[in-house]
Amino acid sequence: MPSEMVTVRSNQEVGEDVFEMRLPSSVPAKPGQFYMLRREGSALLLPRAISLCNQEEDTLTFLYKVVGEGTAELSNMKPGDKLRLTGPLGNGWPLEELSGKRVLLVGGGIGIAPLLLAAKALRQQGNPADCCLGFPHQPFYQEAFQPDCGALSIATESGVAGHKGLVTQLFDPADYEIVLCCGPTPMMKAVVALCKAAGTPVWVSLENRMACGVGACLVCTCSDHQGKNRRTCKDGPIFRGEEINFDA
Ligand SMILES: Cc1cc2nc3c(=O)[nH]c(=O)nc-3n(C[C@H](O)[C@H](O)[C@H](O)COP(=O)(O)OP(=O)(O)OC[C@H]3O[C@@H](n4cnc5c(N)ncnc54)[C@H](O)[C@@H]3O)c2cc1C
Ligand code: FES
Repeated sequence: MPSEMVTVRSNQEVGEDVFEMRLPSSVPAKPGQFYMLRREGSALLLPRAISLCNQEEDTLTFLYKVVGEGTAELSNMKPGDKLRLTGPLGNGWPLEELSGKRVLLVGGGIGIAPLLLAAKALRQQGNPADCCLGFPHQPFYQEAFQPDCGALSIATESGVAGHKGLVTQLFDPADYEIVLCCGPTPMMKAVVALCKAAGTPVWVSLENRMACGVGACLVCTCSDHQGKNRRTCKDGPIFRGEEINFDA
């Protein structure tokens, strides 16, 4: 798998504790894939998994939220600093299944990151998806989605923007032929339940904690309804929502 030392092009705060980092790479990647990022000389043992948010020519864009030591270290990086970039990893969204279908993208918080490239790919295919994005408080990055979505709806729990409430109150899955979803586990679980009730297939991007990122350590396993372990990094991170046992 490709792994290279790259130089940070830009790294700026675009929301509260949310950063956008741009890195060079010419290796083609698929929407929904992810990379492992580690600052050069970091004292931290493990790299951190971050989804590919956008890819334009030779520039990759990552959107990440500072939640602990690893992401804080990334947020302190400046243009010109060096970082080990490993990837692209994982399977990506099933774009071939989406062709010509009425697609809905549902993102929660930093879980909007892997959905932007899916929106762009669908726009290019000529069937732009509707997008519903939910945030606890101040929304971020919604302007990046605007040009590539059919309809774009926002929900905030605090009511500072868009609908006051949960993202799950913004849509009826029966209006769509397929749903793609990424966000906190309780939100994905709720979206899968709504889709199941409506008979609409749904795909989720899981963000389980990772170590190796390449299928060797089993740190990232999730469970399906048959009790079978699935590696988020190697078998996913994108799975059919109906398959995943969110309570395991
Ligand atoms: C395939 C994949 C794609 C991802 N894409 C993105 C992305 O695009 N943007 C982004 O901001 N984050 C993404 N993540 C999550 C990101 O990897 C973690 O937030 C990061 O590793 C946390 O590292 P840390 O050292 O800052 O925090 P830590 O010190 O490791 O943890 C701080 C806190 O965050 C919690 N935490 C840590 N890792 C996760 C996780 N994977 N899921 C939920 N809670 C966690 C811990 O339980 C703890 O409470 C992705 C994860 C995976 C597996
Ligand atoms: S992170 Fe090691 S198997 Fe997935």
